[in-house]
Amino acid sequence: MAYLKVALGFLVTAFLSATVSLAHPGLGFGWGGVGAPGGQSGAPSYGLFPQFYQFSCPQAEDIVISVLEMAIAKEPRMAASLLRLHFHDCFVQGCDASILLDNSATIVSEKNSLPNRNSVRGFEVIDEIKAKLEEACPQTVSCADILAMAARGSTVLSGGPSWELPLGRRDSKTASLSTSNNNIPPPNSTLQNLITLFQRQGLDEVDLVALSGGHTIGVARCATFKQRLYNQNGNNLPDQTLERTYYYGLKSVCPKSGGDNNISPLDFGSPVKFDNLYFKLILWGKGLLNSDEVLLTGNVGNTMELVKAYAKDENLFFKQFAKSMIKMGNISPLTAFNGEVRKNCRLVN
Ligand code: HEM
Ligand SMILES: *[C@@H]1O[C@H](CO)[C@@H](O)[C@H](O)[C@H]1NC(C)=O
Repeated sequence: MAYLKVALGFLVTAFLSATVSLAHPGLGFGWGGVGAPGGQSGAPSYGLFPQFYQFSCPQAEDIVISVLEMAIAKEPRMAASLLRLHFHDCFVQGCDASILLDNSATIVSEKNSLPNRNSVRGFEVIDEIKAKLEEACPQTVSCADILAMAARGSTVLSGGPSWELPLGRRDSKTASLSTSNNNIPPPNSTLQNLITLFQRQGLDEVDLVALSGGHTIGVARCATFKQRLYNQNGNNLPDQTLERTYYYGLKSVCPKSGGDNNISPLDFGSPVKFDNLYFKLILWGKGLLNSDEVLLTGNVGNTMELVKAYAKDENLFFKQFAKSMIKMGNISPLTAFNGEVRKNCRLVN
């Protein structure tokens, strides 16, 4: 009995100190240091761990999901847009919500980079999540973690896999327009170019192919695939890998001149369902972007086999997508005393 009392006393003390340290994110690295859970597939954990808000904002996940449910019910494409935001955040200075900063006296916004301008969207949904979180737990949940939670929630609500999400990222006080232009791969990339740009982030070919599977939802503008229809190799001919009827359909959406903002689904068979049809379409010459097609035909490394494997086995794709999302979400986060928790995702404090 005495032993039990001592043990219980210890538990209560441990609980209280954990509560105190987590109520002050940034002081909580007694928990988040080396050996904290969070890393998977041998990836380093960088101090992120799934229970980061367990005591400081236990309702965080529910708040995120409830806003996502409404936003995606209203417009199913929003799931795709939010998944992409996390990707475009992580490839520029790491997953630090730099993409969310608007132009200001000290910030040149990444929103105007080549890959982002007139293209990335979903900022109002992030604002709504942030507003609700600020009400429930002021200055506790970072915008970078909101992006990561929104990406996972959007995947799940679209029918895709879930994963245990490491948390504890903090927000940058800077943005980088030039890094956004240089690090995010363009849609007409060669396979070698894609591999190089993913390697720069510590991501390998397996990650490249699995994460490209994010194109199982969402749409792209004519401007991003026009080159394939009219002048793929500078010889005024279309991309020969395009299946014929698909090619004619695309031409009707995307004329040779004009129509740059017309949109076409990345996975025309199930554009709001997260599944493995994206990979089957690539096998059939019906992938939309050059960067999708070259995963099969680019003839570098092992990517062709991976496309075939994910086309054949949806479960394999889902498992690898989850692993690779965790890896992408771990790209150089700010932790401990670095960065800040923004009050408004669009502005530094
Ligand atoms: C492999 C290199 C990649 C390239 C070259 C690429 C390129 C593109 C392009 C050009 C668009 C259309 C943008 C527009 O028309 O405005 C797009 C959309 C999208 N991308 Fe990627 N992407 C890549 C990787 C990824 C990754 C890793 C993810 C997430 C895991 C992702 C998720 C999405 C989603 C969901 C959309 C649709 C967004 C919407 O409908 O709003 N992409 N991508
Ligand atoms: C990709 O498109 C850009 C802009 O249109 C162009 O300058 C570049 O040459 C293209 N790259 C390839 C590999 O076709």
